[in-house]
Formats: sequence, structure tokens, C-alpha cells
Amino acid sequence: MARPVVTVTRTLPQGVEDRMAKLFDMRFNTDDVELDGQGIVAATSGADAMVPTVTDSIDADVIAALPDSMKLIANFGVGVNHLDLNAAHARGISVTNTPGVLTEDTADLAMALLLAVARRVAEGERLVRSGGWRGWTPTFMIGHRVSGKRIGIIGMGRIGQAVARRARGFGLSVHYHNRKPVDSAIETELDATYCADLDAMLGEMDYVSINCPETSETRHLMTAERLALLQPHAVLINSARGGIIDEAALAESLSRNSFAGAGLDVYEQEPVIYPKLLVLDNVVLVPHLGSATHEGRVAMGQKVIDNLEAFAAGKELPDQLIQGRDF
Ligand code: DGY
Repeated sequence: MARPVVTVTRTLPQGVEDRMAKLFDMRFNTDDVELDGQGIVAATSGADAMVPTVTDSIDADVIAALPDSMKLIANFGVGVNHLDLNAAHARGISVTNTPGVLTEDTADLAMALLLAVARRVAEGERLVRSGGWRGWTPTFMIGHRVSGKRIGIIGMGRIGQAVARRARGFGLSVHYHNRKPVDSAIETELDATYCADLDAMLGEMDYVSINCPETSETRHLMTAERLALLQPHAVLINSARGGIIDEAALAESLSRNSFAGAGLDVYEQEPVIYPKLLVLDNVVLVPHLGSATHEGRVAMGQKVIDNLEAFAAGKELPDQLIQGRDF
């Protein structure tokens, strides 16, 4: 295929769009308006490939309505919980994502949240700006020490490992829960302890960081019952996907100070935030910033281009998601 027709659902960094326009017959979303299912179907009419993002809900109905010409969904992002992969594969549509290039940025953001919650950074910033700070006192705005504590990482893939490396640098001991233990060389490098029993791990950690993908198995993994296992001084961080935590149960636990606090980059119904979370001081809320660096977004765009170029050349797709293996 010399020059495939490619629909992009959101505006991408200018340099990425410029490069795409040289290589493919592009249909960009110049207004950057979020598209609903009908909008996606209309925008992809006659397209060979599409480039959606996390803001597009591409469920089985949308997949069924995509044009016959559609052969590749090259997602701009690593998480694919917004796509019905089984429906895509059943229609013979390949799906790719952008792994590896946003690992370090997402891990940085997880640590930023951990430090912000533990040391009450956002709360302090709000106080200073409000003009309400009355000066230093020995008992003022006391948080929790990070160094010397335990972190439990849920999901020890690329991003979980990058969080572990940072955590080690901050003097935390690393524990993790995963479907299976990681390679022993990685365990040794990170001095990481595998916890097969998630519930037991939750009850022993000072910090918990969620870094697994959202799948049918991990949706609402953090139920009210599991949140109740966290120690009173524990801090929970989620930079993965909002649906992994039962948000209503989280708000309820935090409002009772059942554990110390949470740092969230992701939400169940983005961009809507569960209203009860908005009034709590013990939660730091940021707007899905994990991969939001100039370098990360350009690299994500280049990954998409690599997959589109392979598709156009009829070659193996570098980041193809294989049914039953990656999700
Ligand atoms: C991803 O790539 O899945 C990120 O969450 C988008 O920032």
C-alpha cells in the first residue's frame, strides 16, 4: 500500500503531524474535539488505519460500524482499555500501541504523587496561595517520611519496574504483586520481594503504587474491602487507570481517614472527577499527566508512525497486540 489513508482522532504534537503528512494520506482532527462513537465512524470513512487515543471509546459497536477498509488501529498510547481488542481481532483489524517510550515519564509522575501526598505538598501550596499560612511551628502540617519505608507495587511491568528503581533511590524497600514473579535478575537488581498474596501485601505496606493495566481482571481490583486492608498511615498512588480502584469506595475510605492519603493521575470517568474526592485534603488530584512530556509525546508519535510505516510496507507490525498474550 503506497500511501494509506489514516484518520487521527485528536490533535498530535505538530512535528508528529508534519511527519505523518509526508508519509500518509492524513485526516487530522484540527479542532481537537473529542469524538463520540458516531464521530469516530464518520471520521474513518474510507480510511485504512486510524490513530485513536485514551479519550476514544472504541467498543464492539464502534468496531462493528468501522468501514470495511479499516485494517489497523494504531493507538497513540500504551493503555488499550478503551478499545475492544477482541472485537477488533474478530474483524481482522490489527491493533498496536506505544510501549516503552512513556515508562520513565509515568514513573516520575507516580513518584511526584507519592512525595506530594506523603509531604502534603499540594495542601501546603493551597494554604500559601490562600494567604492562610501563619508561619512555622513544630506541629505544623506534619506528613510521613518516605525513606526507610516499604512500597508495594501492583503490576511489575516496565512502569512498575521504573517506579521500583526510583523508590530504591528514595530509600524505600520494594515489594510487588504481579501475575507471576519477574525475572530473578530484575528482582536482584531492584532487591524486590514478590508477594503472591495481594491482600497480605496491602496490609504491610506504607506506600502502594498501582502500575498494572486495566483489564477485566484488574477492574475494581481495589475494592472497599481491599482499601480497608491499608494501614492508617498508608498512601495509595494510581498512575495506571482509574477503573482499577472503586472510586466511590476510595472517596468513602479517605473521608473517614481510613488510610493517610492518595495521589491520583487517572479516574474512572475522565475528565469527570468523583465529586466527593474534590473536597478532600488528603488526596492529590492531577489530570492524567503520566506521559505528558514533550519528549514522551513525540516518542509516542514516532512509535505510531513506525507501526503505520510497517503496515504500509506490508511488514510485521513492531507493536502489534496479540490476542490472548498482551491483554
Ligand atoms: C497511555 O499511554 O496509556 C497513557 O495513559 C496516556 O497518557
